[in-house]
Amino acid sequence: MTWLITGGAGYIGAHVVSQAANSGLKTFVVDDLSTGISTRLKSEIELRKFSLQDTSSLQALFQEHDFEGVVHIAAKKRVGESVERPDYYWQENVVGYQNLLGVMAKHDVKNLVFSSSAAVYGEPNESSDSLISESTMCSPINPYGETKLECERLSEAFSGETGAKVISLRYFNVAGAGRPDLGDQYIFNLIPIVFDALDRGQQPQVFGNDYETIDGTCVRDYVHVQDLAKAHMDAMEHVVTAQPFYLPINIGTGYGASVAQVLAMISEVTGQKIDPIVAPRRQGDPASLVADVSRAAEILNWNSEQGLREIVSSAWDAWQLSHK
Ligand code: WQD
Repeated sequence: MTWLITGGAGYIGAHVVSQAANSGLKTFVVDDLSTGISTRLKSEIELRKFSLQDTSSLQALFQEHDFEGVVHIAAKKRVGESVERPDYYWQENVVGYQNLLGVMAKHDVKNLVFSSSAAVYGEPNESSDSLISESTMCSPINPYGETKLECERLSEAFSGETGAKVISLRYFNVAGAGRPDLGDQYIFNLIPIVFDALDRGQQPQVFGNDYETIDGTCVRDYVHVQDLAKAHMDAMEHVVTAQPFYLPINIGTGYGASVAQVLAMISEVTGQKIDPIVAPRRQGDPASLVADVSRAAEILNWNSEQGLREIVSSAWDAWQLSHK
């Protein structure tokens, strides 16, 4: 049977679709192609272009297909933009998801994997060397994180009301590429920002070097997008066989890398000298955000396999393909 992947033409979605195909699982993609790119998908993958705001297209699709489950990845994900346009983010991320859940309930589709984010935690009020577990209090600090938390609440309610089996995967800092043509083409996060600076012959900025961390720069948990895609496979497999439940699960590596360490790895991989400019702290940046990944290991038997070197080198290969 077929799984519906919303946002399947996006950076993360296309990795999920590709891994599903490699493991013999049939997928169908819905994507409004606002940030997704249709050529990321092999020609045999069926793609329908519409927004989840469009309830009648959703209804029609569920009437035509008997979906085994849904992986819901489609969303707007730029934190800065969400601060400027909170209503737009609510409409796109929350109302779109409500539409999807309504149609799933009507067609009795009960297997669901929701793409959530570590942004639900906000700035956890814990010492900077402690890991973030799923029981850490959720307190988002921007509209993007608020939409993800609201979607988690909707997911839990959906499970309670319909008997659905639902996992929310809380992604930490996703980067890298499974294949060069599947890379992240946007310049919103640290690694592509640094590649872009190097391409322009400029030096990257480090936002603050006076944090209480190993070297004063912020620490994040960078997880390879290929490992993340595998976590989706494991979550899909799990929900199918489970009893009704709702569970958020962190997806990270359990290890932190500081901005300085990421820059050192980028320098090593690209062979370019990096002499960063120290800029003031960026508002809303916690010193350290590293996942406790024990639940993913316990429930999904999932562990990350790739480290910072693989993340940076695969991201660099993808960057060179799309920016030359
Ligand atoms: C990483 C680190 C910066 C740029 C964001 C979202 C989060 C999630 C992942 C989707 C930070 C530092 C960055 C630069 C720097 N998104 N930095 N110089 O903020 O950890 O997480 O993406 O779910 O919700 O908030 O990622 O890549 O922006 O920054 O020093 O030019 O790099 O301060 O410590 P972030 P990021």
